[in-house]
Amino acid sequence: MAESRWRRLRFSLYSPVYDILVGFNRVRRRSMEWAELQPGDRVLIPGAGPGRDLDFLPPGVEVVTGDIAGGMLRQLRSRARQVADRTGMEIQVQEMDAQATGLPDRSFDVVFLHLVVAVVGDGRACMEESVRVLRPGGRLVVFDKFAPEGRRSSLLRRLVNPISQILFTSLDRRLGELADGLPLTLVRREPAALGGFMELALFRRAG
Ligand SMILES: C[S@@+](CC[C@H](N)C(=O)[O-])C[C@H]1O[C@@H](n2cnc3c(N)ncnc32)[C@H](O)[C@@H]1O
Repeated sequence: MAESRWRRLRFSLYSPVYDILVGFNRVRRRSMEWAELQPGDRVLIPGAGPGRDLDFLPPGVEVVTGDIAGGMLRQLRSRARQVADRTGMEIQVQEMDAQATGLPDRSFDVVFLHLVVAVVGDGRACMEESVRVLRPGGRLVVFDKFAPEGRRSSLLRRLVNPISQILFTSLDRRLGELADGLPLTLVRREPAALGGFMELALFRRAG
């Protein structure tokens, strides 16, 4: 699936300042804890941006990661080299569309979607792709901003969304709808940042 040129360009433009502005270190730590990573686990991190997540992975896991934006990919490659040198972790970086990674079925133990499902063109395709590459019993951790389930979004959210989705991120995606009907069990879901505007959710892939 071809990702829009604007999306690639936009994130390349943001890349010089993105890592300075977007931290969420506490949430990233929590997400890694929830995933219960074990030595030897194969971990996929699509839409990784400049790769801040790599700083929080325990040694001994094997990582495949990528992004679609050239500016982000350059930073991701450089960070991956530093982390690999420091920890000995195996990290493969590739240009990658989170909606169609081209990776084999059932080949990962854990997938992290941090600030990705609300950003890609098709959040549902991104979830389906994550499920496809997860082995049965594998874990999917999602961190993002979601519209409330089962009720209309607030007026403010509806007003801001058209601009926000062009410049930053969609505000109208519901996690329940993104996961509906997929072979996933929701293990836990909690408010994670910005007063609950951002949420963290852990799913387990069914067999
Ligand atoms: C909001 S940033 C999140 C970056 C990182 N995951 C984090 O937690 O800080 C969204 C990232 O997704 C990337 N992206 C957007 N659409 C994508 C797609 N279809 N496939 C892969 N990456 C994508 C952007 O280039 C950007 O780096």
